[in-house]
Amino acid sequence: MSTDRPMRMPVRSAALLAQAGAVLLAWLIFETAAFFGLLLPLWAIAATQSAAAVLLSRLLHLPVWWLPVQALFIPAVLFALHLDLPSGYFLTGFVLFWLIFRSNARERVPLYFSTQATAEALLALLPPNRPVAFLDLGSGLGGLPAYLAAHRPDSVFHGVESAPALFGISWLRLRKRANAQVRYGSLWQENLAPYDLVYAFLSPEPMPELWRKAKAEMRPGSLLVSNSFSVPGMTPTRTLSLNDPRRTRLLIWTL
Ligand SMILES: C[S@@+](CC[C@H](N)C(=O)[O-])C[C@H]1O[C@@H](n2cnc3c(N)ncnc32)[C@H](O)[C@@H]1O
Repeated sequence: MSTDRPMRMPVRSAALLAQAGAVLLAWLIFETAAFFGLLLPLWAIAATQSAAAVLLSRLLHLPVWWLPVQALFIPAVLFALHLDLPSGYFLTGFVLFWLIFRSNARERVPLYFSTQATAEALLALLPPNRPVAFLDLGSGLGGLPAYLAAHRPDSVFHGVESAPALFGISWLRLRKRANAQVRYGSLWQENLAPYDLVYAFLSPEPMPELWRKAKAEMRPGSLLVSNSFSVPGMTPTRTLSLNDPRRTRLLIWTL
């Protein structure tokens, strides 16, 4: 749950409540109109539901980016039903989404990848004259451990990933590298103590909890590097602004 929402209802509950309320409202309008002998067309009911879902979402303080999702949800369901596709299509789509985006809804961490400039900046941050241990929290397709392991054969590069498909691909990618590996599981189960540099490219949501975990587990002198997302109230020791298309900012805390 985001800390900048004045209301404390979890986002998913608020989204569901708004949809349910909007369905109820649309149904009441449909029934009332029918009572007076007016049969509303489906598009009018869908439009009413959609508008009501947006309104209720605003009232429940959902973040702005949820509004188009809320507006299109029921119209999209109706459209999908209208296509009359075999149910196997929906099951396949659901399984594929789950395999790739498993963590998105639960952790509120979207899937996007670090740029080449970020990989190079991380490589430059590693102490040059001794072996180091690196961990990528939520390692996606394993691109960072693969790149860093190729450039620093003296060091070890780990990743942890909770989306099954992403883990599978990164496991295949790294299986022949002696100094890189990815584990399947949650980053919250990882012990951060053995690492000299822990990298996170997540979202604003888990940062306060990640900071508590890093402070409790990481050794003095080790580095926590967050791509783009800061810890509320904690000024980074150093910030690197990269010259890449995303204008990446690396926030570095020395523990
Ligand atoms: C923004 S992507 C970053 C991918 C990669 N680290 C990179 O920089 O290219 C975030 C990744 O974290 C993963 N993730 C989210 N929550 C996680 C959790 N609790 N445990 C492990 N991985 C998680 C997501 O599946 C996703 O692959």
